[in-house]
Parts: sequence; structure tokens; C-alpha cells
Amino acid sequence: MVATFSSTGRDTFVGSPQSRVDGPAKVTGLAKYAGEFAAPDLAHGYVVSSTIAKGSITAVDTAAAEAVPGVIKVFTHENRPRTAWLNYNYQDAVAPPGAPFRALYDDKIHYSGQPVALVVAEDFETARHAAALVKLDYEAEEPLTDTEAARDLAYVPPKKRNGIKPPPEPWGDPEGAYDRAPVKLSQDYRLAIEHHNPMEPHASTVVFEGDGKYTVYDKIQGVSNSQGYLASVFGLNKDDLRVMNPYLGGGFGSGLRPQYQLFLAMLAARELERSVRVALTRDQMWSFTYRPDALQTIALGADRDGALRSLRHDAIGGTSHFEDYQEVVVNWSGVLYKCENVALTYKIAKLDTFTPGDMRAPGAVTGVFAIETAMDELAYATGVDPIELRLRNFTDHDQTAQDKPFGSKALKSCFSEGAERFGWSRRDPEPRSMREGRELVGWGMATGVWESMMMQSGAHAILSADGKLEVGNSTGDIGTGTYTILTQIAADTLGLAMEDVTTKLGDTRLPEAPVAGGSWTAASSGTAVMKACRDVAEQAFRLARQMENSPLANVDLDRVVFTGGRIEVAGDPGRGVSLVEAMRAGGVDRLEATAQGAPDKDFNDAYEAYTHSAIFAEVKVDEELGQVRLTRVVSAVAAGKILNPKTARSQILGGVVMGIGSALEEESMLDHRLGRFMNHNLGEYHVPVNADIYDIDVIFVDEEDKANPLGVKGLGEIGIVGTAAAIANAVYHATGKRIRHLPITVDKIL
Ligand code: MOS
Repeated sequence: MVATFSSTGRDTFVGSPQSRVDGPAKVTGLAKYAGEFAAPDLAHGYVVSSTIAKGSITAVDTAAAEAVPGVIKVFTHENRPRTAWLNYNYQDAVAPPGAPFRALYDDKIHYSGQPVALVVAEDFETARHAAALVKLDYEAEEPLTDTEAARDLAYVPPKKRNGIKPPPEPWGDPEGAYDRAPVKLSQDYRLAIEHHNPMEPHASTVVFEGDGKYTVYDKIQGVSNSQGYLASVFGLNKDDLRVMNPYLGGGFGSGLRPQYQLFLAMLAARELERSVRVALTRDQMWSFTYRPDALQTIALGADRDGALRSLRHDAIGGTSHFEDYQEVVVNWSGVLYKCENVALTYKIAKLDTFTPGDMRAPGAVTGVFAIETAMDELAYATGVDPIELRLRNFTDHDQTAQDKPFGSKALKSCFSEGAERFGWSRRDPEPRSMREGRELVGWGMATGVWESMMMQSGAHAILSADGKLEVGNSTGDIGTGTYTILTQIAADTLGLAMEDVTTKLGDTRLPEAPVAGGSWTAASSGTAVMKACRDVAEQAFRLARQMENSPLANVDLDRVVFTGGRIEVAGDPGRGVSLVEAMRAGGVDRLEATAQGAPDKDFNDAYEAYTHSAIFAEVKVDEELGQVRLTRVVSAVAAGKILNPKTARSQILGGVVMGIGSALEEESMLDHRLGRFMNHNLGEYHVPVNADIYDIDVIFVDEEDKANPLGVKGLGEIGIVGTAAAIANAVYHATGKRIRHLPITVDKIL
């Protein structure tokens, strides 16, 4: 094994397909989730949810609930402890502008499903039973939950949120160019509201340690966010709050922000001075954040050869009354295609719902579905092949960011390698031209794009006298493989076996890292871990040089390699000393370092960084039944250096499967009279299951990028972006029906 400071080309674990280091713990049940941690005197909270969407609570009667043996206390807004909401307007690390939702704050109802009481009992079943006995009277007002009905109330979001780029100012003359264009298209596009529904529902266990101290296990994508939230809201000292989430059963964005069960569990634990767990039920997963729908219009003006002359993309998204949630919906159109006359607008409209939240590739799933469907329509309007059309409008500069060049953009390789693997050249573009028995066959494609980001992140590395290494930080592995890739990076940097490295995550006692989101964790935590390990390596090297008769005495750091637990002279195998020997000779029993990984300002000043993909889909549509089978997908991805082809492929597979959900199945349906989601369970909210999934082929094309020392761009989100458009385009090719309102259900096909 050879690992050097200067080369990622000679590494051994990085770049190779490694199984998850946390896999055995997960499949044997050793991995514990937030709702599974116990404490000797653990009490259980059950949330009572509002049955109206708007109005106020006029009366509360908890007598029957409190009379149930085993019930400890019922919390409502009437008896909420004064220690709750000491900081009424605390905004967590990823909060949009506004005043965050405050559970049990007062008698006002903001949305259907709002928590209005917490029943705490000795066991969960008792709490649930008693919760059904809590009587609440309401004065209901008529809710507005329909984005379409709120269209005229839409406004430009007040200020930009961290990481959310507002649309750029229009450029050129979009209207005039549209009027003059020989080919014109203008259509509306819409995506259903989707709920994240990770396998693990939200739960928080607050362990009361006495003396004002708490250990909290929370379903959160970054424990630092929960810690900061609890400290501010309850006026606690951060040092008295240890927040952990060693494992997460998925997040998809639903765990980016602390949710109300965390607040309620802490409120009860503080008041009762005992440990409390609040676990939400599956149907309560519809009582907070979700992917908002968006009303979108795209107008394209083009020459007859497909060259874009005018591009307009307008979107209106929903938000709550208390926060201005926003996401990047329309910018992607300007990022993807070269055009001299462009207008992109984005507004939001207040609804009587909870605040929407980031859901895997927030905004991009929505906006790219629209632009990539519109581009397919343009391909048909001009008779140009969909790939050729995209190449004719290709840009290697980001027009939405002062025309900066992309740091790398191997999208053309995605097109060519994906097309080759899929067999695109054999496609007859004529709709309804391909058939197999009673099924129409359709082939469609689309482009995917996602921002490649990096965040400031800490990490530590500790090398012990026995040659074992520990690395880690506070970020969460939401199922993405973070434990594994950090172990690979650490092992390579110090020339150790992966078995000799332990990665620790999800603990506020570890160096602070941002939430696991935005596909930035590999770049951010990976860089920090590598830097901490390099620091330790340098310390070991200095000790090795100081040894008596050291074979490294006159060798510079840049001439050694770390390999097989040893420091050796490059090109001179065997000449060197082991890390353990160096430490022993130096009389130290551990070497440790804490490092920060930070975005490269020079790079970011000069370049824009995005990941790209080309998705190819084959559908088979039963004409009589209207049933769509998605029989083949090829997703070709350009995401810089691939640290671990195995976990990377899994990320893309998961993204594609969620894209299939968007395209064909997922839809949270509101009854607008009640302002209430009707299908709040996995029986009626359909997600793809094994029977829906056929062949998914993932290709990683070669791409070199220099945004960070690892050359990684992130993979958590790119797999979903564009997938729904590829499927919708395939459905058009199969059936001749252009469906612009997802999901594509049987009723829309027939
Ligand atoms: Mo992702 S929506 O940034 O967890």
C-alpha cells in the first residue's frame, strides 16, 4: 500500500470499491437510532396533532387523559413551562428567513397536524391511548393550501438565505427574441408535493443526566444544529448538552433542521427532570417539512436548428405563513444552456401549511424536470435529436454567475458514454413507433445538474501507540457512506489498513462540522480528515527523523511515502521506520491533530462548480391499462473523483429510485377544504418498491476537478436530478402524450 501527500493517483483505498464499514452494525441491529436509546427512567411522549389547519384552540380538556394510570403529565400551550421558548425567534443553522415554528407556543393553529399537546406516560402505548382522550375545541377558519389559488399572492422572497442563490437579473431581450424566434414553445409544468419519508421516522431521546446536563439522541443530519437550537431556545449551556446521532435511517433533507419532537422531548425532560423520548409515528411524518410544489412556466424561442434565442423560466413555490422557504428552482435553466436572452423569476406564496424544507436536490428536482421536459419538446418541434439539441446549446461558462467558467464539466462524456451504453443510436424518434406485444416502448433522456459545494468543517485524527487511528467529526452519516469514505481517506493518508482506522461521527464532542446535506459532506469532511491525518503524519515523520540512526535522517517530507504502517523513502521500499517505532522512540503514546477544511477562495473566485449527469430511460406502457413500467435507466455522472465506486453507485441508485418516485408515484394530496394531507401513510403515498425497479446502470465518467484537494464533487443529490424528465420524455416517446404534471399516474396516461 502506498499513500503519499502529493498524489491521489497512487492511493489504494480511495478510488476502490469498499463495502460500508458500518454495514455489519446496521444489518445485525447493533446500530442504534435516536428512538432506540434507553435510560433507566425513560418516559414516553406522544404528540397530539391539530385536526384543523387554521384557527385557534378555544378549550383544552386533559382530565380524561391525565386520569389514565401511567400518565405523568399532559403538556399544552396552557401549561407550557416558562423555560420553553426563552428565545422565541432562534433560527437554526439552515433556517429560512422568518420566525420558526414554535410548538405549544399559544392557541394559534398554523397548519393541519400541528402538535397541540404532548402526553407523557410511563410507556408508549399508555401515552398513545391517553393522547386519544385529550379534548380540544377549535375555532376554525378557512385555510388556503392550494399554491394555484395563492398564485396572485406570490412575492419575491425577502432576502437570500445562506447557500440559496436568488435568480440572476435578466439579460438580453428575452421578450423581443421570443417574438422574433421562428420556433416558440410555452408550457406550464408542475410537480406534486412530496414528503421525504426516510425509513427511520423522526424521534428524539433526551437522557436526563442530572445537574442540568442532558445527553440527547436526535434524528438530525447534523448534531451541532440540534445542540445550538436547544441551547438557544431553552437558554441552556452548550457544554451541558451532548447531542448524538451515530446512525441515521435516511434523511433526504427532512433531518436538516431540528423538528418539533426534539423541542417537546427536551421540554418534558426539563420539566419532569427525567429522561423522555418522543417518537413520531409514520403518519406524523406528514406533520412537518416537505418538498413544495411549484407552478412553473417555461417559454423557449429557438431557431429552426434548435439554437436557443430566448429562454424564460418562472416559478412560484409554496411556503408557510411563518417562514420564507426558498430553493433554487429556475437558475438551472440559465446554468445549463447558452442563450443570449434570458429571464428567470422565482416567487413564493404563503399557505396554511408547515414550512417546506429541502428534499434531496431541493429546487433542482423541480426546475430541471421543467427545463428538461421543455428541451425534449423543443427537440420534437425542431426535429433535432435530444442529445444533439443539448450539444448545440452547450455552455462551458456559467451565464448566471458573471460568465465564470466551470471548474470542470464532463457532461459531453456523460452524453456519449450514456448513449453508447443505452443504445440511443437505435432509437426511432417517432412517438409510438416502438412496440413489444401489448406494450408501447419509449426511450427518453435528460440532463441533470447540481451544485458542487464545500463547507467549512473540522475533523480530528488521533494515532495511538498501537498504530490504531481514530478520525471523526460531528457530521452525520445519513446512509451515504460517510463513515466508509472517511476511513478510506484516513487510511490512505497515513498508509494504514482500513481495519486500523475507526471513524467516529455524530457527536457534538467531536470537532464541529456542518449538517450532512447539499452533497457537500465528502468534500468538506473528507478534506478536514485528510488535513488532520497529514498533520499527524508530519508529527510522526519528525519523530522518525529524530530517531537514532534514522534511515530518514536526511530525507525531506516530500520524499517519503506512508505505506503499510511505515514511513518509507519514495522509490526505496524497506528504507524507513514504522509509525509505532517512531512514536515509541519519541516517547509519545499518541499523536493528534484537529484540522479545518475550508472552501478554496481562489478557486471559487475563478470558477463555478457543478456536477452533471445524463439520464436515459426506457419505459414500457400498457396502452389498455395505462400502466408504466420503467424497464431500464442509464445514469452517466460527472462528479469529479469517485472515492468509492461501490458507495458512490449506491448513492446514484438511490437518487434514481427517488426520481422514479417523483416521476411515477409520489404525491402528497391535500384536501384543500380541510387543508389536510389525505394520504399520510405509506399505503397511500406510493414510493417505488422492489417490484418497480428493473435495470439501473450507473456510469461515472472521468472528470478532474480542483475545487478541493480530493477532487470530489459530491454525489448525494445528482442521481435524482433530471431523472423524472428522462422518464416523462420516454413516456412521450412511447405514447405521444406529453405529461407536464407529475406524477405520471394511470389516469394521465389513459
Ligand atoms: Mo439534502 S436536501 O441537502 O439533505
